[in-house]
Amino acid sequence: MKKFLSVVLSSTMLIAFAGCTSSETNTSTDTSNLVGVSMPTQDLQRWNQDGENMKAQLESAGYDVDLQYAANDIATQVSQIENMISGGVKTLVVASIDGSALGTVMEQAKSNGIEVIAYDRLIMGTDAISYYSTFDNWDVGVKQGEYIVDKLKLDSTDETYTIEFITGDPGDNNINFFFGGAMSILQPYLDEGTLECLSGQTEQTEVATVNWATDVAQARFENILASYYTDTDLDIVLASNDSTAQGVTNALVSSYDGAYPLLTGQDCDVVSVQNIISGKQEMSIFKDTRDLAAKTVEMVDALMKGSEPPINDNKTYDNGTGIIPSYLCEPVVATLNNYEALLIETGYYTAEEVQP
Ligand code: BGC
Repeated sequence: MKKFLSVVLSSTMLIAFAGCTSSETNTSTDTSNLVGVSMPTQDLQRWNQDGENMKAQLESAGYDVDLQYAANDIATQVSQIENMISGGVKTLVVASIDGSALGTVMEQAKSNGIEVIAYDRLIMGTDAISYYSTFDNWDVGVKQGEYIVDKLKLDSTDETYTIEFITGDPGDNNINFFFGGAMSILQPYLDEGTLECLSGQTEQTEVATVNWATDVAQARFENILASYYTDTDLDIVLASNDSTAQGVTNALVSSYDGAYPLLTGQDCDVVSVQNIISGKQEMSIFKDTRDLAAKTVEMVDALMKGSEPPINDNKTYDNGTGIIPSYLCEPVVATLNNYEALLIETGYYTAEEVQP
């Protein structure tokens, strides 16, 4: 993480040094090209990457950028967006903390003629959202579920396997897709008894994790391990993403003596790639944030120029006011076998960064 932050810091410094504009460095009063980018937090690696990618790519397309991170605090995100609106942004790109908490400020954007693109997480219950750019979130869960089925040959085995589940923040609409997609594959094996969840916690509300926080995930799993897996091995953990998988890993390392379970994840965080290499996490889902940023910049550019943004899905994402036209990027399974091709050879990380 330290290495990652230093990469982010040095690229931020380079951008500032090169004289490119940002909220911190831009003193110009011309807001005709100004785009606001609101990110949820800097606590988790992926949003630092998303923010930096969006800023760099928007700037190289000729836009001025006001990029803000909201420290996972809804009131902070609302006031940052209000400031962007009064600062004259023409388009807003928002990755929400809680998808249902931004209705009022979105209405403000709409009444100021500002187009809003929901980034990665859908903003719910308002028709002020023009477009949604994300990954195929249902497919993320399906791929995690299918990985487990294929790896343990659940279709043909006579064995039974124990499994526990963990997903993310209840306010993040994505968990309906990640967890729903995974359960669409795994539920039949629970029903027929090939998979057995000793804690009995299989409902989304029971396995959610506030803020996707690693320490919350760790505490819940320490409890589960102590209550159900002292005499029985835990064979599988379906974790919706890497920050929760890392909490599971911490709990396993601190309070579990059995055979190490097959543990899933998502994002290819540096720590989780290190864990994949050292055998503490089986797989992750690679979502190339460079591709998501590139597609979102195309959307912004089209909106700023009055043309049609790229869309490849017009049926999946209803935010309660109707379908939001979306662009879905493709998630890819990452394991020990292909991480070098996916992550190192494409320049996402250096080999040194992911060494355990
Ligand atoms: C994102 C995931 C991420 C999670 C926690 C979700 O909305 O789609 O990639 O792991 O938030 O930040």
